[in-house]
Amino acid sequence: MRNTIAVMNTKGGVGKSTIVLTVAETLSVFHGKNVLVIDSDSQASVSSMLMSTTSLRKLQSEGRTIVDYLVATVLKNEPSEWTEFVVGGVSDVDDARSVYLMPSDMQLTLLEREVSKESVHGKLRSAIGGLLSRARIVFDIVLIDCPPGLSVLTESWLREADFHITPTKPDYVSVCGLDVFRRFRQLNPEMGFADNLGVLVNMKDKHSPADDDYHRWLAENAENRCFEQVLPLLNVLQHAGRYQDSDRSIQAKYPGEIGAAVRGLTGEILARLALSNQPTALPAQTGS
Ligand SMILES: Nc1ncnc2c1ncn2[C@@H]1O[C@H](COP(=O)(O)OP(=O)(O)OP(=O)(O)O)[C@@H](O)[C@H]1O
Ligand SMILES: [Mg+2]
Repeated sequence: MRNTIAVMNTKGGVGKSTIVLTVAETLSVFHGKNVLVIDSDSQASVSSMLMSTTSLRKLQSEGRTIVDYLVATVLKNEPSEWTEFVVGGVSDVDDARSVYLMPSDMQLTLLEREVSKESVHGKLRSAIGGLLSRARIVFDIVLIDCPPGLSVLTESWLREADFHITPTKPDYVSVCGLDVFRRFRQLNPEMGFADNLGVLVNMKDKHSPADDDYHRWLAENAENRCFEQVLPLLNVLQHAGRYQDSDRSIQAKYPGEIGAAVRGLTGEILARLALSNQPTALPAQTGS
């Protein structure tokens, strides 16, 4: 089953982490999926959206983050059980009980410095590939929250994951980010690359003709495979990123228009995954 998805745009602030959060919770509540979120951003944004700062700090001090896993496997050659770095019971949505997280840590910046040495690239890539091949079997969907920019670590996710989803704002700079990403994808094709599951237009202002123009322009390019569903610019999504200590219902967290939009998006994601996992039809046999 090809089910590992890197959420990536070279441009920052386009909503990557927020989308990972909302898609993971919606897949859990409305589609009954087991979802693993891998936080590959040293800012630990999605980790702090999914758990309290106290719990996150505790995991970080116990050495139970993606950074600790990669330090052990890549830098120290210590075989580590990946499941020990996965935490369950995250999310402040009462019914989202099947969201799991490999949290991040600021120390990721230091790890990235170490793994940027050419001698370590192969080991990093095989550690990431090994991790995803195990997670692929255990979880229905794996979402990787990538930081902006193109670090060696991000490149490893992009070369080892099955798909990428690229969120973009419908504006000039974000669209440029998409172009850089496309050019990067074309470099070293022999090294493999995730397939494009779709470009997602996020933060679209429904009253802005300029946003409409950018959206149309993105959708017209078939290579983008834009999702039909757009996520509108709505403050409620900003609030959703703030973890609450008391649980809330999914309707309270994503009310009305935004809830419907995210469900539309997860429906499309699942349909695209199902399509790409279909066995290819065998050519019809000719009788002898
Ligand atoms: N559809 C939306 N409507 C309103 N605000 C949004 C929407 N999507 C994301 N945001 C807000 O935009 C900001 C950037 O979002 P987010 O942190 O998810 O982006 P990012 O691409 O992960 O950023 P970075 O590149 O720094 O990792 C956050 O304040 C978030 O709450
Ligand atoms: Mg982010």
